[in-house]
Amino acid sequence: MPSPVAFPGPPHVPVIGWPLRAVRMLADPLPFFTTMLERHGEISTTSRRAPRHVFVFGPRYQRQLFGNPDAFIADAFREFRMPPRSAMARLTAGLLKLNGPAHARHRSLMQPAFHSRAVARHHETIVKVTNEELDRFRTGEVRRVDHDLSRLMLRIGMKTLFDVAETGDVDRLNGLIGRLLSSASAPLTLLLPVNAPGTSYRRTLRAAEQVDDAVRRIIVAKRDAPGDDIISMLIAARDENGEGLTEDELVGEAYTAFCHDSSASALTWTLLMLDQHPQVRNDLCDELAAELGGAPPEPGVFGRLPLLDRVIKETLRLFPPASMGLRYAARDTELGGYRIPRKATIFFSPYVTHRLPAVFDEPLRYAPDRWTGPSPDSFGYLPFGAGPHGCLGRSFALLEMKIVLAIVLQRFRLAVVDGSTIDAKIKISLVPDQGLSCRVEQPAGDRSRAAVRGNIRTAVDLAGAR
Ligand code: HEM
Repeated sequence: MPSPVAFPGPPHVPVIGWPLRAVRMLADPLPFFTTMLERHGEISTTSRRAPRHVFVFGPRYQRQLFGNPDAFIADAFREFRMPPRSAMARLTAGLLKLNGPAHARHRSLMQPAFHSRAVARHHETIVKVTNEELDRFRTGEVRRVDHDLSRLMLRIGMKTLFDVAETGDVDRLNGLIGRLLSSASAPLTLLLPVNAPGTSYRRTLRAAEQVDDAVRRIIVAKRDAPGDDIISMLIAARDENGEGLTEDELVGEAYTAFCHDSSASALTWTLLMLDQHPQVRNDLCDELAAELGGAPPEPGVFGRLPLLDRVIKETLRLFPPASMGLRYAARDTELGGYRIPRKATIFFSPYVTHRLPAVFDEPLRYAPDRWTGPSPDSFGYLPFGAGPHGCLGRSFALLEMKIVLAIVLQRFRLAVVDGSTIDAKIKISLVPDQGLSCRVEQPAGDRSRAAVRGNIRTAVDLAGAR
């Protein structure tokens, strides 16, 4: 154990120090993290005497964090004190709550269904669902494209994961999950975990029961009639002892893998960045026209669409949907030479790390061409996480984002409404707080960019945008 060195951080304030800071952090984590970085550096704590809350940014400390998964464990929803046998406990019991051999076992049972070759089988479905959703767009109308993309990604998720295509069923499950996520992420649910009438905690438990019931019904039906979908593969998967996942485990894993909202968030930010960078947009449209000539992308074409790849990479850098994450110390340990007590919570942030000038030149510039040069390692650029819990759905997410973006850009120009306020905020995923409204135009429509206000003007350098 290293000798105790004074942990960087703000002065100790007895009793109310952490609760006050926690409220500020829960209300808006990204400004809080940015202040911690600016004032105290890449590792800090809000409780210097007993560092129970630690903040790490940048590749150096994140490498140590992810490189020691026995000491720093994942335990999603630990802060949410849920009754042990509740539906909420079952829904959140997937990979992101498992560690060690149990995690490795689930992961190896699930891996084949998410391997890039298996994922490629869903190419046609993604094209079909995307075109169906875009058929509802009319030139001249203004649409909340963040809502459109969430619905589209949910439909893709429902069809590929469960082979459910009825839009009524999709909308019902969408509504249930939306209700669950919004009540579960309300600060009051964490601060007042009381199962009493009218509380957001009770609403969360009720919504979880309905989601659990809906997912379980699909799984039971799939056992009898397997299809060409991910859940059927997970039901059939067996380990070396011939054992598979139990029904409760399947419910938890299906729920973990179902949340495609990160892909919707990444595409929303991409549309905004393309609106604000007309030259990048023109170049990308030229690339798509040359390779696809107006048709949807065929499997195997993506190697010939390098700018499409760079545009998505660059959006995931400046606006990583999973902008923050947590690990917990499983025992007394150390990080970066500082003592970390058992049960400490360690916060990390791809959003903050991706903006460090030591990792990326001119970090606030949206510059897809930076990806033609050398890239930082997986602890400096980590939109899909790192270490054993790195995103299992990475290949799937990249495939669906590329297909959707290639089709959208060839069918329409989605022009951001002039004067829009754009505030980047974490609401589970990183999203524009007030949404993104766009006018639907012909693809060769007006090339000017919208005037936008809000914290977007400090989140990215729009002054020099081309
Ligand atoms: C742009 C889209 C996406 C982003 C940015 C993203 C990001 C992430 C990140 C950062 C983690 C690690 C969390 C942590 O370490 O605490 C993760 C885990 C995970 N993601 Fe994704 N994800 C995306 C899409 C998807 C999709 C589409 C699926 C399913 C088809 C998926 C399935 C999973 C699963 C199952 C895990 C848990 C892995 C484990 O704990 O072993 N993700 N994702």
